[in-house]
Amino acid sequence: MKVVIIGSTGQLGSDISDAFWEEVLPLSHDEIEVKDINSCREVLKDVNVVINCAGYIRVDDSEDHPEEAYMVNAIGARNVALVCNEKQMKNVYISTDFVFDGEKKEPYQEDDPPNPINIYGLSKYAGEILTRNYCREYYIVRSSSLFGIKGARGKGGNFVEWMIKKAGDNEVIKVVDDVEMSPTYTKDAAKMIKDMIEKELPFGIYHVTNQGHCSWFMFAKKIFEFFDIDAKLFPIKSDELNRKARRPKFSALENTKLNSFGLRMRSWEDALKDYLKEKQYFI
Ligand SMILES: NC(=O)c1ccc[n+]([C@@H]2O[C@H](COP(=O)([O-])OP(=O)(O)OC[C@H]3O[C@@H](n4cnc5c(N)ncnc54)[C@H](OP(=O)(O)O)[C@@H]3O)[C@@H](O)[C@H]2O)c1
Repeated sequence: MKVVIIGSTGQLGSDISDAFWEEVLPLSHDEIEVKDINSCREVLKDVNVVINCAGYIRVDDSEDHPEEAYMVNAIGARNVALVCNEKQMKNVYISTDFVFDGEKKEPYQEDDPPNPINIYGLSKYAGEILTRNYCREYYIVRSSSLFGIKGARGKGGNFVEWMIKKAGDNEVIKVVDDVEMSPTYTKDAAKMIKDMIEKELPFGIYHVTNQGHCSWFMFAKKIFEFFDIDAKLFPIKSDELNRKARRPKFSALENTKLNSFGLRMRSWEDALKDYLKEKQYFI
């Protein structure tokens, strides 16, 4: 099976590229521009599967630059889906928990209705719709709050690293305790995406997150507990941050469909321990 990874230099794309060690063609942004249909037509060919990890992921900046968010997350998804359909290649589009509004009080399932509350979420939801409308053989993979060895290029790192850096600098660390999500290790998501493709699960939407959920404050607390460092950590409310984009208050995802096929993700706590080990932090 030949697989192309778009956004292969990114946090998730790099782990997916590593997971498919045979016949993988990793594509950096220099090698493909998803906004440009000609670039997609020229580069995407002669493979079985195209995994689209390209994304404009800066949630607050998306409010000021909606055109860019839509061009990459929606039109980019449409271009990739169109070419995949033309050339009979399977298409995997990576989406997000931010397609939901966060009003549900329990984890979202794949068939819950999306209702994004910020431009980033809206642009990703548009990407989902375009993917399913332009391509017959697609997987839409919604993941959440990613942490991976490379850190997100679009955000300049990941939450775990930011926490450890702040603690190392002896900063007072304030983290929101009124927003809950499912932290997810990119390596685990990558392995699961590979499994889904290899097992030829039915096409459609899948949630792929580590099991369980927590607030960002609780996540930070666990990082310091596992890493065994004393940090000056305090809970705050999200309103205090005055951010441009609204965030869903509760965007945990349930991997209902994976579970129905007997596939399970481990807990986010176990994934976090492994991440810290891999980074050679002592726990
Ligand atoms: N980070 C999260 O917490 C999170 C949560 C849920 C879902 N997701 C989704 O997961 C995917 C991957 O996120 P990530 O954390 O791995 O982000 P990332 O590290 O910023 O990776 C994004 C990759 O896409 C490339 N790229 C950006 N614009 C492109 C374009 N127009 N054409 C081609 N390539 C382009 C980037 O290259 P350059 O940097 O060189 O431009 C980079 O390699 C995104 O679709 C995102 O929406 C992320």
